[in-house]
Amino acid sequence: MEKGLLNLLNIGFDTPIELLIDKNNIPHKFRDCSFGNYIPDENYPSQQEAKEKLIEFVSSLNEYNKSGFYSKFTKKLLKRRKKPKSIYIDGGFGVGKTHLLSAIGNAYHGKVIFLSFSQLMYLIAYFNLLPLIEKISKFDLVLLDEFELDDPGDAMMGINFIREINKTDTVIVATSNTTPVALGGREFDMMVFKERIGSLINFFETLAIDGKDYRVTKAPKTQYESSKKTLKELFLGYKTNGRGKLYAEFGDFIKTIKDIHPVRYINFNEKIDAVFIENLRKFTDDELLDALRFTYLIDILYYGSVDIFISTDIQLWDMFSDDLKDGKFKNKIMRCLSRIAEKGVFVNTAS
Ligand SMILES: Nc1ncnc2c1ncn2[C@@H]1O[C@H](COP(=O)(O)OP(=O)(O)OP(=O)(O)O)[C@@H](O)[C@H]1O
Ligand SMILES: [Mg+2]
Repeated sequence: MEKGLLNLLNIGFDTPIELLIDKNNIPHKFRDCSFGNYIPDENYPSQQEAKEKLIEFVSSLNEYNKSGFYSKFTKKLLKRRKKPKSIYIDGGFGVGKTHLLSAIGNAYHGKVIFLSFSQLMYLIAYFNLLPLIEKISKFDLVLLDEFELDDPGDAMMGINFIREINKTDTVIVATSNTTPVALGGREFDMMVFKERIGSLINFFETLAIDGKDYRVTKAPKTQYESSKKTLKELFLGYKTNGRGKLYAEFGDFIKTIKDIHPVRYINFNEKIDAVFIENLRKFTDDELLDALRFTYLIDILYYGSVDIFISTDIQLWDMFSDDLKDGKFKNKIMRCLSRIAEKGVFVNTAS
């Protein structure tokens, strides 16, 4: 088989799980994000303020973890005094939270791990909290994107994670996953965060970023496209860029992601520039778990800048049953739809 043409059997998901943790560095999509190319909107001074605060944070963290000539003991004493405060960045859609989070990671000289909140949940489920803390505390800095407050159980797990991490030398910068400010959502989310996190709030400095969705105002138009070609033609014609391309039937695809643990999905981002899914059909009410795995995978692919091509005889919006779209995991499902809409190419096979 031509190099770079992958199917579900030869993609390979067998990286030792311990190594997968180290693969969680700044995602492909955000790897070029810096403070320099974050352009604050003059109409929203909180953007410039956040940028300055975060630049300051990175330099104090660099200072804190700098290896110097102090003895280990003195360094420990100094460290205890000066450990920089963790930061919680709150703001509406597309104001550049993940950009800034990645800029921090790119500017910091030490060991950093980038995780989405969903990834963290799967890692805790896989390793259990304390063994995971032991692995994560070897990093100086945890960048935790999209802290979700809507599910109290998950929020509690996240908060327990923060509590344990705070006992170590590791510092966290988290971003929120908030509802639009226009709906009064942000103040509410901040309140819920503060309430859920209780006294741990003292470990955090909170930064609120106002503004408009950059994707809508500045970024090139990214509505999903329809294609007249067949999916196979698109697959064969797609030029890869350093990684491979994967073609699979929807049914086989869902079966594969069911059989491997979601902590391994990150392998897709290592291996492919594009995925081609043939014959997607609707997720029905009783396929919640499959639907959630799929939405999680789309999150991962989005971070990995993996192009998504789908053939189907339904509309994007109808991909999930109404009950799924309206249910407990509404946010995850809506995020998935918007991410596919941003990146996806659709081949309509309806006759
Ligand atoms: N001020 C800015 N200057 C330059 N690029 C920006 C700025 N704000 C956002 N972007 C770019 O716009 C896109 C969306 O930003 P980003 O993903 O960081 O927003 P977000 O606040 O994390 O959104 P979401 O709430 O959807 O997670 C990214 O490609 C990012 O690089
Ligand atoms: Mg984001």
